[in-house]
Amino acid sequence: MARPPQMLLTVLWCVVMSTTTTVLALTFQAQLGTSVTPPLPTNWSVVLPSAGSWGGGSNLTYKVLAEYGTTGRVAVIGNPKSYFNVHCAGCESAQRCTGVLETVEVQAKINGCRYATNGGPFSETTGSCVTPIITNGTVVNNESQGTFQCIGMFRNGSWVLGYVDPTLYPDVRELMCGFQMLVVDGEAFTFKDPEIAPRTAYGIDEHGGLITLVAEGSEVVYTGITLNQTAQWMLGLGARYAIGMDGGGSSTSYWTDNGGVQGCPTCIDQPYCCLRSVTTIMCVLPDHD
Ligand SMILES: *[C@@H]1O[C@H](CO)[C@@H](O)[C@H](O)[C@H]1NC(C)=O
Ligand SMILES: *[C@@H]1O[C@H](CO)[C@@H](O)[C@H](O)[C@H]1NC(C)=O
Ligand SMILES: *[C@@H]1O[C@H](CO)[C@@H](O)[C@H](O)[C@H]1NC(C)=O
Ligand SMILES: *[C@@H]1O[C@H](CO)[C@@H](O)[C@H](O)[C@H]1NC(C)=O
Ligand SMILES: *[C@@H]1O[C@H](CO)[C@@H](O)[C@H](O)[C@H]1NC(C)=O
Ligand SMILES: *[C@@H]1O[C@H](CO)[C@@H](O)[C@H](O)[C@H]1NC(C)=O
Repeated sequence: MARPPQMLLTVLWCVVMSTTTTVLALTFQAQLGTSVTPPLPTNWSVVLPSAGSWGGGSNLTYKVLAEYGTTGRVAVIGNPKSYFNVHCAGCESAQRCTGVLETVEVQAKINGCRYATNGGPFSETTGSCVTPIITNGTVVNNESQGTFQCIGMFRNGSWVLGYVDPTLYPDVRELMCGFQMLVVDGEAFTFKDPEIAPRTAYGIDEHGGLITLVAEGSEVVYTGITLNQTAQWMLGLGARYAIGMDGGGSSTSYWTDNGGVQGCPTCIDQPYCCLRSVTTIMCVLPDHD
């Protein structure tokens, strides 16, 4: 399905805006919530089995839900083991973080993703990676400029969430980081932060399947959801563990089966549909079984 002409115009406008101004750099601040749950130790982590024995390729189901006053786009990947991929703009060919930013749409097309969402935080001013990133077994960034919680998959197919010690990197196939754990061991954390924004979250269900949520909104006009609601929503979707990824104008979902970019991402946080250039994406490959 092609985008309506009006949306195409706003997309072009934002591309122009983002190359000619420094309006951005909100990505970080938008996501630092205050948890009322005692914080996890900074070196907390958990290793979980991923599913992988279901038939049907990636076993991806996609649905659009209306909750918490917004629209949430949810994908459940029943077989993440050979379908969960991290990509990083410009990183694969260079084998390191190059500081290139690209939209989820362009990155999804380049990498042949059937489904994709935006990934971790990055610096919008320098375009640099600020968290560890591993893509297809290559460590493209090993530095962390702050404290982040990560989501990764070991080469043996097990998930790892939280802090991943660099000595384990040789065992890791895919890794990117988000801001904070939202759900741990079947319990949602609570957050006092009143900020309402678009949100992207990833969770692991009781079968080891991956649940991704992209909730729509626009920070400037106070639409979207709070972190507390994001945690509740992920729990309600069946997440035993969930992590808050980059949100705000970065939140984007892409689904080839339904025409590409879904809904209305708001790249500069205004209520216009446009695509922000980001560092990392989560990519689900087309079924190849
Ligand atoms: C985590 O950090 C604490 C305090 O810094 C330390 O006592 C503990 O051994 C660490 N745990 C692991 C698994 O590294
Ligand atoms: C896909 O995964 C679900 C569990 O998430 C399972 O119930 C279903 O049988 C799987 N589909 C196939 C075709 O195996
Ligand atoms: C991932 O790496 C393996 C080698 O470790 C290689 O065979 C494979 O082609 C790579 N996949 C992609 C998509 O680059
Ligand atoms: C991080 O990467 C740099 C450059 O490749 C390397 O010199 C350094 O040893 C790595 N550090 C860790 C902790 O892996
Ligand atoms: C996979 O590898 C990780 C890291 O080496 C390990 O902690 C985990 O137990 C392994 N999973 C399985 C199922 O062997
Ligand atoms: C967070 O959500 C829980 C569950 O809905 C609720 O009980 C709690 O009051 C909420 N906290 C805040 C600060 O909104």
